[in-house]
Amino acid sequence: MDAISVIRTKRDRGELSDEQIDWVIDAYTRGEVADEQMSALAMAILLNGMNRREIARWTAAMIASGERMDFSSLSRPTADKHSTGGVGDKITLPLAPLVAACGAAVPQLSGRGLGHTGGTLDKLESIPGWRALLSNEEMLSVLDGTGAVICAAGDGLAPADKKLYALRDVTGTVEAIPLIASSIMSKKIAEGTGSLVLDVKVGTGAFMKTLEDARELASTMVGLGTDHGVKTVALLTDMSIPLGLTAGNALEVRESVEVLAGGGPADVVELTIALAREMLDAAGVKDADPAKALADGSAMDVWRRMITAQGGDPDAELPVAREQHVIKAPASGVLTRLDAYDIGVAAWRLGAGRARKEDPVQAGAGIEMHAKPGDTVREGQPLLTLHTDTPERFAYALEAVAGSYDIAAPGTDFKASPVVLE
Ligand code: URA
Repeated sequence: MDAISVIRTKRDRGELSDEQIDWVIDAYTRGEVADEQMSALAMAILLNGMNRREIARWTAAMIASGERMDFSSLSRPTADKHSTGGVGDKITLPLAPLVAACGAAVPQLSGRGLGHTGGTLDKLESIPGWRALLSNEEMLSVLDGTGAVICAAGDGLAPADKKLYALRDVTGTVEAIPLIASSIMSKKIAEGTGSLVLDVKVGTGAFMKTLEDARELASTMVGLGTDHGVKTVALLTDMSIPLGLTAGNALEVRESVEVLAGGGPADVVELTIALAREMLDAAGVKDADPAKALADGSAMDVWRRMITAQGGDPDAELPVAREQHVIKAPASGVLTRLDAYDIGVAAWRLGAGRARKEDPVQAGAGIEMHAKPGDTVREGQPLLTLHTDTPERFAYALEAVAGSYDIAAPGTDFKASPVVLE
């Protein structure tokens, strides 16, 4: 077998055989297939697609490239959630302790932000002392002791995906449904969760811009999970406007703690509870009431214990950016659009995200939104506050938000899109 013949098969719109797939994933993981060969193959897959059999085999080969975790020693059923990525998407932070407070165990392997989308680990690292990197033993011990753990995937889990994802990121080959589905599901299946809820984002701020593409991605991932014995369900949720009123690391932790304290923005609370219900249902936990666990403080108790178990101080002051710039409403009226992609790009340019994997992020950088679509605004009132430690970034962020919102005449009828679409 050789890489060139595998590339030619897909370049010429052929089907990759099981043997070709097993060989190329294994040889790439071992360094025998070069990055430039794998990037040519990834581009051929992006352009010509893969059928269900090829996607299933590709996923199985990526799982087989590393170790599989086992949570069978836990006394509770396991449930995990994965979001395909968005702007202001801090849902994992309140969701993991909430579902644990309701009786399931939540092993939440999370990622870092890249480009305009935020990453759960970057957000949590704004809590002084908190550690994302845990050994498998530490992960199991936090999970067993508190009911929830949020941490980085260890090096041993789906190493083929680790290499391939980094390569796709710099070769314009991220947005391919077969590659996204196999990337996400190989990690989730290797992680060993019993059930999985997928939050597939749709809209300007998401990888999937249309409902049709999001449906295809969701059904591909549900099929992969089900075939591997993981109870998998998917919700399609709106990412045309940012979630909540903040985008940025420490800003989003603060908002998540408000939700755990029984407050917080309505859209964040609604999606957190909707996903919690799906996770508990998939895990077979009956008679739990996530809304009650948020209101009575039991989810907050799990949050505090989980943060402490990972070295963080839940009472510590969160970092605040050194400089702020307020954007005021240019007219009175009804806010009818606030674009998730533009807000995500602006937060990223302010320092909340990174351009390259190894770049540091600023804990305090990001954007506060003072109004959401449907709200009435007065001319001159604050609309957005930009936060950064490096004020020379304001100009780039202002460029990104310049066309990000529309204000219609006072009294205009406006119906916001639902948070959960399907
Ligand atoms: N998240 C992943 O883990 N992989 C992808 O390909 C896209 C989003």
